[in-house]
Amino acid sequence: MAKKIIKGSSSPLRGEIIPPGDKSISHRALILGSLANGTSIVKDFLISDDTLSTANAMRSLGIPIDINGTHVKVSGNGIHGLRESQKIIDCGNSGTTTRLLTGLLSAQKFMSKLTGDKYLQERPMKRVVGPLSQMGAQIAGEEDGNKLPLTITGAELRGISYKLPVASAQVKSAILLAGMYAQGETEVIEPEASRDHTERMLSYLGVPIEKSGNTIKIHKVDLIEHGEIIVPADLSSAAFFIVAALITPNSEILIKNVGINPLRTGIIDILKSMDGDISIINERDVNGEPIGDIVARSSNLHATEISGALIPKAIDELPLAAVAASFAQGETIIKDAGELRVKETDRISAMASELGKLGVHVEEFEDGMLIRGSESLTGAKCSSWGDHRIAMSIAVAATRANGETEIEDADCVSVSYPGFFEVIDELRQ
Ligand code: S3P
Repeated sequence: MAKKIIKGSSSPLRGEIIPPGDKSISHRALILGSLANGTSIVKDFLISDDTLSTANAMRSLGIPIDINGTHVKVSGNGIHGLRESQKIIDCGNSGTTTRLLTGLLSAQKFMSKLTGDKYLQERPMKRVVGPLSQMGAQIAGEEDGNKLPLTITGAELRGISYKLPVASAQVKSAILLAGMYAQGETEVIEPEASRDHTERMLSYLGVPIEKSGNTIKIHKVDLIEHGEIIVPADLSSAAFFIVAALITPNSEILIKNVGINPLRTGIIDILKSMDGDISIINERDVNGEPIGDIVARSSNLHATEISGALIPKAIDELPLAAVAASFAQGETIIKDAGELRVKETDRISAMASELGKLGVHVEEFEDGMLIRGSESLTGAKCSSWGDHRIAMSIAVAATRANGETEIEDADCVSVSYPGFFEVIDELRQ
């Protein structure tokens, strides 16, 4: 697997970028577009390994999907228009593909098999298999249905009221997708709000969905309208450059067209609480999702505490928040974040280990970590742990470390951001 060398430098970051499309919204555009009554056009779609896993899955379920650059035509065949895949559906590294499709395929009139790469095969699936089974789904898998591969035998489902034990947009979405086919009402109650892209896109495509506090309700759906879906740039990708600009003297960057859904902006809240100089301008809306342009400038960061309702809003950016904390004055604490242990890799152990190699003092807890800010980091030989967000987080830290950092297995960035390393080079003056 390819290595990447990052040279530490104090050259400022300057310029303007538009990061690639939002990964969560790109997955949903393909899935809901496939179920719509006619052709949907998706613009600014994210081309990455994860979203291509969803595209290939929907194709194997009989839906023509034409990808032309970032412009995608999804020839939806209606809510009952999927057909049995002739092969095992390989979800690659993508938890979102697996969990959302497990919900959707539970309600079809045919059998499906889902598998994934070695990392995905380690991730827990009981969190979707449990509630879906309560709805009447027939799902079998390794370790009593907790691990891939999963075999899903389509069944008649009934609505349930399900209280999520942890905030999870993937679990919520799986239940809502199944709920579109179930008898009666399906209700999901979240302990804290997680990203609501599924709910927003369903509403945008004309599907009635009710939300009151952290409770979401859906009924059997007859029709999903086709439409044009413009995918905002991914804040989770933008965030790497925001932190890089904050920790590099004399930097100022403008990141345009970024999704600023309030259930995704936890990283901005965290960085602002650390005295990060970030402003959002030109706020507007595209197909039911708020977007804006983000200006980030060099800042003197201070430690903070990250916990509670902030965790689901920043879940994918917590490794990066640990990088910001490494350059902040004082000790930052991240807690209530046990979910990090079941992401693409164990992101608590991964960050503790890799930041430790760069000379940062990190203490690991079961549900988080303590990071002591440091005056200077030292380049080292690091690993990505095969996880795209670990690779990019370590790369950002490495831009400000003394000397060179080697990141092993760095090509996993293609899971969410294929051109990531080139953009760092472009912004560095
Ligand atoms: C996602 C939800 C989050 C997030 C993942 C994408 C989604 O996972 O970590 O990268 O698109 O629904 P959980 O819902 O498991 O927290």
